[in-house]
Amino acid sequence: MRSRKSPDRFRILQQRARNQFKQAYAAPPACLVAAPGRVNLIGEHTDYNDGFVLPAAIDRHVVIAAAPRADRMVRVTALDLGRSSTFSLDDLRYDEVERWSNYTRGVAWALQGAGYALPGLDMVLTSDVPIASGLSSSAAIEVAVAYVFQTLGNLALDGVRRALLSQQAENDFVGMRCGIMDQYIISLGKRDHALLIDCRSLEYQPVPIPAGCSLIVCDTKKRRGLVDSEYNTRRSECEEGARLLGVKALRDVTPEEFERRADELSPVVRRRCRHIVTEDQRVLDAVQSLKGGDLARFGTLMNASHVSLRDDYQVSCAELDAMVEAAWRQEGVLGARMTGAGFGGCTVNLVRSEATAAFVVDVPRAYQAATGLEPEVYVCSAEEGVHLR
Ligand code: GLA
Repeated sequence: MRSRKSPDRFRILQQRARNQFKQAYAAPPACLVAAPGRVNLIGEHTDYNDGFVLPAAIDRHVVIAAAPRADRMVRVTALDLGRSSTFSLDDLRYDEVERWSNYTRGVAWALQGAGYALPGLDMVLTSDVPIASGLSSSAAIEVAVAYVFQTLGNLALDGVRRALLSQQAENDFVGMRCGIMDQYIISLGKRDHALLIDCRSLEYQPVPIPAGCSLIVCDTKKRRGLVDSEYNTRRSECEEGARLLGVKALRDVTPEEFERRADELSPVVRRRCRHIVTEDQRVLDAVQSLKGGDLARFGTLMNASHVSLRDDYQVSCAELDAMVEAAWRQEGVLGARMTGAGFGGCTVNLVRSEATAAFVVDVPRAYQAATGLEPEVYVCSAEEGVHLR
């Protein structure tokens, strides 16, 4: 976990952004910004219920090379897509054609809406965060763009505000009602740590990733399908549960209270609420186990989180279950679960260091035999949030 697995990869990404910028604009960029992807260790779908999450930023990045312009135009080139988009800061509209550019437009829109004066920009963007895998490639773009505006426009913006405005871009400009977790961890991540985030107070506590184990992400290669509509349905079901239980958010219900009053809810809403209420408790217990060095207990809580997401929250799928089950059968695995919104994407695994080499061979093989899909496996390190290179 502590070894830096991909410094070359990251260096190449930065060189690519810098060189392509020079080629396009015949001048070096004024700044180079890197924003990581993220993986969530535990605490799924709790963020929009004012609850607790425990994500880490990972060693996969969006890198942007940028320079200010004298006018009010923003020009952004996505190297990996081979596409460019230009827009005016005085006319920020959703682009139906260059949809990828809406993360950039949305952030400019949210920052200006909050009263920040923005400079025009030239930007060249490249990324090795896999797209649509549940590792937050789009939130990484949002936070990176916010950081570029902040740096080149000298904006007084702290990490939490940056996260909130990036989330607002996603919620109100792009139209996905996500919680705060992704933008928060990408904005404020700490090397070698996960962050326990209280999604109500927006305070965090860094929790060291323990030595002696690897953090492994397995991409099922099942692209997240239904996710937007199902995500919004889950949110509404949680809101209904909170209303029926007479609380501001499900964060305010303890597992004991929930058990006492579960009968007041319809079967579906009851299941959704049970997941959230028990998951919040699991996050707090998981942090205690990490602090006490009890990795076995931490792993058990990860496994329980998966079962709850599969059976109560119903956001897993056959591929995620197959990957998690392959990991559960593997020697040296402390815990394994789906991570992110669900319906495809990735699993997160905590594996004893000495069992890592066998894991990265055996688990993909078992998964492929079960599903016919060829997965991707990343041994990750926990990294800094958005920063200048
Ligand atoms: C997506 C959202 C997050 C969070 C997770 C589920 O990643 O963007 O806000 O709700 O799903 O935990």
